[in-house]
Amino acid sequence: MKFGHFDDAQREYVITQPDTPLPWINYLGNEEYFGLISNTAGGYSFYKDARLRRLTRYRYNNSPLDMGGRYLYLRDNSTGNYWSPSWMPTRVKLDEYECRHGQGYTVITSRLNGIRSSARYFVPLGESLEIWQVTLTNENESEAELSLFSAIEFCLWDANDDTTNFQRNYSIGQMEIVDDVIYHKTEYRERRNHFAYFACSGKLAGFDTVREDFLGPYRGWDEPFVVEHGESCNSEAHGWQPIGSHHVRVHLKAGEQRQIIFILGYQENPVADKFDPPGSQIINKKSARKAIEKYLQPINADKAFYELREYWTMLLGKLQVSTPDEHTDRMVNIWNAYQCMVTFNMSRSASYFESGIGRGMGFRDSNQDLLGFVHMIPERARERILDISATQLKNGGAFHQYQPLTKRGNNDVGSGFNDDPLWLVLGVAAYVKESGDWSILDEQVQYENEPGTESPLYEHLQRSIQYTLDRLGPNNLPLIGRADWNDCLNLNCFSDTPGQSFQTTTNKDGQVAESVFIAGLFVLACQEMAGINIKMKEGRGDSFVFPLSSEDYLGFADDMEKTVWAAGWDGDWFRRAYDDFGHVLGSKENTEGQIFIEPQGICVMAGLGVENGNVVKALDAVGEHLATPHGIVLQQPAFSQYYLHLGEISSYPPGYKENAGVFCHTNPWIMIAEAIVGRGDKAFDYYTRINPSAREGISELHKCEPYVYAQMIAGKDAATHGEAKNSWLSGTAAWNYVAITQSILGIQPTLDGLQIKPVIPAEWNGFEATRNFRGVRYEISVKRDGPGNEISLEVDGQPIEGTVIPLPKENITHVKVKAVIR
Ligand code: BGC
Ligand code: NOJ
Repeated sequence: MKFGHFDDAQREYVITQPDTPLPWINYLGNEEYFGLISNTAGGYSFYKDARLRRLTRYRYNNSPLDMGGRYLYLRDNSTGNYWSPSWMPTRVKLDEYECRHGQGYTVITSRLNGIRSSARYFVPLGESLEIWQVTLTNENESEAELSLFSAIEFCLWDANDDTTNFQRNYSIGQMEIVDDVIYHKTEYRERRNHFAYFACSGKLAGFDTVREDFLGPYRGWDEPFVVEHGESCNSEAHGWQPIGSHHVRVHLKAGEQRQIIFILGYQENPVADKFDPPGSQIINKKSARKAIEKYLQPINADKAFYELREYWTMLLGKLQVSTPDEHTDRMVNIWNAYQCMVTFNMSRSASYFESGIGRGMGFRDSNQDLLGFVHMIPERARERILDISATQLKNGGAFHQYQPLTKRGNNDVGSGFNDDPLWLVLGVAAYVKESGDWSILDEQVQYENEPGTESPLYEHLQRSIQYTLDRLGPNNLPLIGRADWNDCLNLNCFSDTPGQSFQTTTNKDGQVAESVFIAGLFVLACQEMAGINIKMKEGRGDSFVFPLSSEDYLGFADDMEKTVWAAGWDGDWFRRAYDDFGHVLGSKENTEGQIFIEPQGICVMAGLGVENGNVVKALDAVGEHLATPHGIVLQQPAFSQYYLHLGEISSYPPGYKENAGVFCHTNPWIMIAEAIVGRGDKAFDYYTRINPSAREGISELHKCEPYVYAQMIAGKDAATHGEAKNSWLSGTAAWNYVAITQSILGIQPTLDGLQIKPVIPAEWNGFEATRNFRGVRYEISVKRDGPGNEISLEVDGQPIEGTVIPLPKENITHVKVKAVIR
């Protein structure tokens, strides 16, 4: 069953029924000011950091679902009837309803008793504010006397404190209401130099900032007293729960239309300029006033919206494809790329499954998010790499997370996830391949954000590699530490205390448990280092001192590969790990957890077993033991009980999350691996199984948004097999983008140029693509002329050797590529 449909021409998903199985959300904002918005206008906004600079409140885990948002109420003053044009929170049945989610904007349109309302929500580029552009149309033959109310609830900035520290918070709320603008200035009189404002273009009939006056005692957002009675209280909040609500009376003749604009914004003032007049306690509103005046004009709001659309046309235009499969096209051309941008911005902090209070930016997560983002705005990827690497520890290890506002490593979570530093190598390699910007390797970057510790980024990468070499276990495999990519494989944790964090509790000193996954990742990272090293030498000759050569890196990779064959190969697939007792995991010897997906993916990606044929064995084992119609599960058999020595992975009921759920992040690794062995049909089949667009028809089961990937789909051991959870913020976005664009469609940036090496399904007769790469626009046409994967390339009419297109001469900006597959 569907709850809407794709409108690919508009690049929108159109939800046609408000009661979707879960709130189906979208994101507003591009750089600093962000918002989450659901299909019924739920959600919240923040500036840079969802925890520390939260503008509006949201009620988690609430019933009814999705409480707190950008609410509007319409009241027919002739009857006293009122409703929410976004359905929530009144849930009055609407005659028509439609929500269009696009890139960075959402439009909710509805109609009741002949009154049409359309609210367009977006954040203009470069601004710290959001616009709600509301258009009301009277489609009746008679006049309408309406009241329009807006309603938001302010958060007292630190979202965690806001939900816990009531004894203080109920006394600190402060507002100013000046010239019909509602200013929220809690804590502005002391240490904050920022405030929020909520403005409206209509002439106000009234306003409210005291929540209980607006709602009425013991009432909810579904039946506010003020809306019911059609009169605001003009209340000014002192403490308690400050809100913002405007009331505008709208008289509409038959057929008449009117636009009313609301602006919710965040503003900072220089400390010396906080108050106006100086010495008073009154906010200096000069800077905010400018933005308010500008965007309350429909013409400026329209222009800002148009610019946002254009911006996305430009970003998405960097890679567009036309294949025989509509699900592929719309994910690659629109939604998957968009999700990559959102994960890049948010990491794992703020979604409807991540509270924005908990996690900062993940070290490994951010490095992987880069992979799907870097072609869109390489400069931002560069900045991110430099931020991340400045948190790296001197010993080459990494803080597992850092806070976006401070850009410092998070001490509470600490380090010891032994895969973390290796992802930096992959992130940097992806950046250099995409941009050709070798200067990043010379950037002087601190360790642990400590002044005086600067060294070139290249050295950071070396230390990442060294970190693994310094931590080998009894089998010479890398020690796992707290965990590797699988945060829940906690082999040194041994936690028997409820509430203890599996991620940060380490009860063993960790000198035994080893990870085959890190071994594979290490080989891959060494190969990247060798490639970078060779090119750097070519470019710089002897002027640069390389403590290690490409041969050294390939030597490390070689040694590790030997170790994997000795201790990490189980006969038919790659093993997963050795536990603290030195017992193997992910082997036929185990009764549960016999085979895991991660090492099959990463080891094949590192090229292990390609020469001796073991690769096919490993992938066939994945197909046989792990693949389901809803995707490939993480391991089998699922853990039926909690195992002290395995940690969180066995804490989940079978079939969920890391305990044998379809952990979607890992599936593209298998797609890539299948492409490596030339099995395009299999790669594409796995791609389609978890492609959200291809699952749209089973939305009642899948439950999450059909336009973005979710982190997890319940596995075959679960009662709800096929049900997705944790949509939006997942490494799944970047990796699926990489798998489909770089491995299956085969358009892959390399250090030497763009490679065209598709491994597509047998029945596809080809595809077309345009790709911007290092300032050149490649128009690519691929035709199948035989059942295999052999490629011959013609570049601007000339046949070339191999599959990598040499970089064209400087003044050439367009290149035509014809690929024939035989
Ligand atoms: C989740 C993991 C996540 C970890 C770290 C665990 O509860 O299952 O997917 O990586 O928390 O936050
Ligand atoms: C989600 C985390 O954000 C990511 O870092 C981790 O690799 C996966 N879960 C698997 O545990």
